Amino acid sequence: MSKKYLIETFGCQMNFHDSERMAGLLEQAGYESTEDDLDADVIVINTCSVRERAEEKLFTRLGELQHQAVEQGQRPVVAVAGCVAQQEGAAIRQRSKAVDVIIGTRSLKHLPMLVDAAVERRAVHPAAAPTLDLDPLEDVSFPLGVAKRHDPLKAYVTIIEGCNEFCAFCVVPYTRGAERMRSVADIVAEARHAVDTGAKEIQLLGQIVNHYQAPDDPTCDFADLLTRLNDIEGLDRIRFASPHPRHVTSRMIEALCDLDKVCRHLHLPVQSGSSDVLRTMRRRHTREDYLGLVSRLREAMPDIALSTDIIVGFPGESAEQFEQTLTLTEAVRYHSMFSFKYSPRPNTLALKRLPDDVTAEEKTRRIMELQSRQRRIQGELYGAAIGRTEDVLIDSRSRRRDWELSGRTSGNTVVNLSGDPSWIGRTLPVRITGANPNSLRGEAVV
Ligand code: 5AD
Ligand code: SF4
Repeated sequence: MSKKYLIETFGCQMNFHDSERMAGLLEQAGYESTEDDLDADVIVINTCSVRERAEEKLFTRLGELQHQAVEQGQRPVVAVAGCVAQQEGAAIRQRSKAVDVIIGTRSLKHLPMLVDAAVERRAVHPAAAPTLDLDPLEDVSFPLGVAKRHDPLKAYVTIIEGCNEFCAFCVVPYTRGAERMRSVADIVAEARHAVDTGAKEIQLLGQIVNHYQAPDDPTCDFADLLTRLNDIEGLDRIRFASPHPRHVTSRMIEALCDLDKVCRHLHLPVQSGSSDVLRTMRRRHTREDYLGLVSRLREAMPDIALSTDIIVGFPGESAEQFEQTLTLTEAVRYHSMFSFKYSPRPNTLALKRLPDDVTAEEKTRRIMELQSRQRRIQGELYGAAIGRTEDVLIDSRSRRRDWELSGRTSGNTVVNLSGDPSWIGRTLPVRITGANPNSLRGEAVV
């Protein structure tokens, strides 16, 4: 009987894709996937530490696994991967006895080897200390075709790992290390392979995708990379996350305008609407820079949908400065927004130098106010879409109703419609007939 694995992922898209990679590596090593933790020989917990106290989630989960192990009389090999593993290292073992392998963000390729070694070691010493592998592999290549796509139609393709930006609130430069670019040869090969194996959409991943500069071709920047990917036959859509506002070039805007497969959606994190707060955040762009960029984008592409990330209650943020985030939100009119209450993260400049001085109640008040404005704006934008015809890539059956299909517009809005399951994977014109708070309804124009 073959051995089974289960991967639990807490975190961002980058983490999600790391899990796809780890799943592929384990399958290559002969493991089969299972959804049942009681059935698993190996459980990998892939953790994120960008925001919430992910450590706490991790330890709650490890506690449950320990408890199950005592009840069952045997336990799976447990590996902790991802940002919390990188950050906390051996300290994880001090808080939980359930862990066999602790593997950092830059050592994923070692996972099957470490798991096998843990199985052997445990056969000899049941209470052996975990193996720690936090040594960075700076090599960002990844064997072609190994990552196991969660969604057969959508392939994540990493183009950059790590970040050198050091925004004051952000843990990423510490957990994922310095910025490393993947070769354009690797990227294009992976995208082609994904399309050959059924993908219709490529989503490029990197902390600052638009900082891309190919290490193997001096003429290939981000705009050029998009152009090369746009040439792939059989590919319908290209998305990417996330660009940094200060690295958006005119060449990039031109490429977005000219390339038919690049979606009309830009996730452009702003973090705050106040130039003073942005300065303490070390974002190196001002409110005016950002609004100027939004105007240029809208001038070039009037239909482009924008989304963003915003932090409320950053150290020292006054009521007036928060008000500027509200006015910026009203001015830009985002299609969607991810908003977060500031929380201090290990190693960051903000943790070391800036007291977390906005009270929890005030952060809650601010985020509620921001979200209520955003809901209204989103409702207005969705309402205005009624009557239009949009190209929708049908990607699945609707989550709510089994007989319905679901897809996304180029602008990344979810559209539900009735239709034939054989449409999944096709891009169809859909007339928008109704709007809900988080999705649209439509009818295929066939
Ligand atoms: N507190 C709150 N939100 C944060 N983010 C990153 N670090 C923090 C933090 N310390 C948010 C930012 C970023 C998104 C991925 O997470 O908005 O863009
Ligand atoms: Fe974090 Fe800033 Fe880098 Fe984004 S650009 S990953 S927020 S340090």
